[in-house]
Amino acid sequence: MPRDLLRNRPKAPVLAPSILAADFADLASDARSAMASGGSLLHLDVMDAHFVPNLSFGPGLCASLRKAMPDVCFDVHLMIEDPASYLEPFQKAGADHISFHIEVLEPAEAVRLADRTRKLGCTAGIAINPETPFDRAEPVLGAFDMLLVMSVHPGFGGQAFIPDVLDKVRQGRKKGPDGLIIEIDGGVAPDTGLSCVEAGCDILVAGSALFGLPDDKRAEAVRNMLG
Ligand code: DX5
Ligand code: ZN
Repeated sequence: MPRDLLRNRPKAPVLAPSILAADFADLASDARSAMASGGSLLHLDVMDAHFVPNLSFGPGLCASLRKAMPDVCFDVHLMIEDPASYLEPFQKAGADHISFHIEVLEPAEAVRLADRTRKLGCTAGIAINPETPFDRAEPVLGAFDMLLVMSVHPGFGGQAFIPDVLDKVRQGRKKGPDGLIIEIDGGVAPDTGLSCVEAGCDILVAGSALFGLPDDKRAEAVRNMLG
């Protein structure tokens, strides 16, 4: 799958393996296995221990992975309080897409950051937590390529899917601009994937439901998640 995968809304739902659940000591080969099993782009979760109560990794890891995987689309999810300071570092580290959270930004600032992200040559996503109403993101959707709907409280993999957030997916599809890409993130597994696809999601992020399996069971899990 090419690095420009998110320039347009995917024609059919695709799966994005989240490397948060991968074996960090063997990251390149674990990520390659997930892609070979049917992943279409790679989801990179960046955490700062302020916006969320956990730490993950920064641009250095992204740059190393970019060298190992030159042709894969990198979907960077910034769960950090200060996204403005990290757009350039992640673009330089090989990001193709960068999402940041509406909870840390005023609407005008979110639009400015979307413009900056696109000027850097990346697509831009606005992420929304489970407890944040859709109305908070709606006014800025026209400036973004993607709406990222969180289906768990951000910070950790392996949590249970929150089905109520599917209403935000439906609203995004109805009220967002034509061509808006909708991604859902958290708790996606074979038993929850179909409801996400039916609600209108284009990209399903999956961490533990994929990396928690041995290599030879992953392709079947991807197929089941996408329905
Ligand atoms: C959670 C992250 C997710 C996480 C999903 O804060 O944004 O991308 O990796 O993990 P699972 O699929 O295990 O819920
Ligand atoms: Zn994520």
